[in-house]
Amino acid sequence: MSNDIIHKTAEKVAALRDHFIHHERFELLEARFAMLVAKRLSDLDAGRSSEAHGLALSGPSGTGKSAAMHHLLAGVGQQLSTTRHWDAPIISLRVPSPATLKFVGYTLLRALGYQISSERQAWYIWDLVRHHLKERQVLFVHLDEAQDLASRGTKHELNAVASMLKTLMTDPDWPVGIILSGTPELEDILNHDPQLARRMQTVHFNSLSPVAHGNDVLDLVENYCKRAGLPPAPGIVEPAHGERLIHAAANQFGLVIELTLAAIEQAFLNGARQLASRDFARAYHLRTACDDSFNPFIIPDFYRVDARQVFSREKR
Ligand SMILES: Nc1ncnc2c1ncn2[C@@H]1O[C@H](COP(=O)(O)OP(=O)(O)O)[C@@H](O)[C@H]1O
Ligand SMILES: [Mg+2]
Repeated sequence: MSNDIIHKTAEKVAALRDHFIHHERFELLEARFAMLVAKRLSDLDAGRSSEAHGLALSGPSGTGKSAAMHHLLAGVGQQLSTTRHWDAPIISLRVPSPATLKFVGYTLLRALGYQISSERQAWYIWDLVRHHLKERQVLFVHLDEAQDLASRGTKHELNAVASMLKTLMTDPDWPVGIILSGTPELEDILNHDPQLARRMQTVHFNSLSPVAHGNDVLDLVENYCKRAGLPPAPGIVEPAHGERLIHAAANQFGLVIELTLAAIEQAFLNGARQLASRDFARAYHLRTACDDSFNPFIIPDFYRVDARQVFSREKR
């Protein structure tokens, strides 16, 4: 394989990866967030100091939560920076490990562009966080992989973090809305603290079902084929391929996209004129190292393969 083909393939696939696919669940999330932003702006404009509200997005790993939040927050952040001239209306970060009160505060402070020694006490760090949130007019703080707040720390730390999030939302001077995204375990944080839960709406991204979403997934594959300039072989626009693909992706929307992009990459690398089932089989093999007898794109009784296990093994 020539370096030229590898280089061109990498470029084309990177461009496809950059494109965000709008979907129904995203629109719901977008609408809920737009409402939160509108309320907060109208309170600000009217000089009302009511508490801020937040949103929690939960769903299984690989369903597309991080991608959705990134796309949503980048869009709204951009809009607010141009219309309101704020430089940092939304701060987004991944929950650090260990997810202690002090380390979460320290990481947030760094995301606000402020560095201090981590030797400082937690209360001091959080005082600074609150000061900078107000100073920079931050409206929302987004914490991705928020389930780690509940699972990694001790119960005592969870109490402390939940109460700090509540404090940020109810700050009379400058309330900040909290956006959490992560696996369904993040709901433990909300269940743990009813006062926090009262201020948060939840949105859930469900898994796909091979039967109900087979056609949507075929549309998605066709859409990617069009963008890639690579026509689909007849076999992969058949309903059976949609079912296979969903099953192979452990029923997760984001993993369907990843497998499709990996298949397109294989087709380009092999100089194919069409995107075919064998490209999906190769992509699956490369991703999972499973042999042909466990490859859902090869065997007829593909439901026998437990793709969930394959992908959860990968995440560990
Ligand atoms: N709407 C989308 N458009 C394009 N790519 C997406 C979309 N949703 C997810 N993906 C891709 O799918 C993969 C998994 O999504 P991710 O957001 O990381 O899942 P999660 O955060 O739920 O575990 C990522 O490579 C991501 O870029
Ligand atoms: Mg994620």
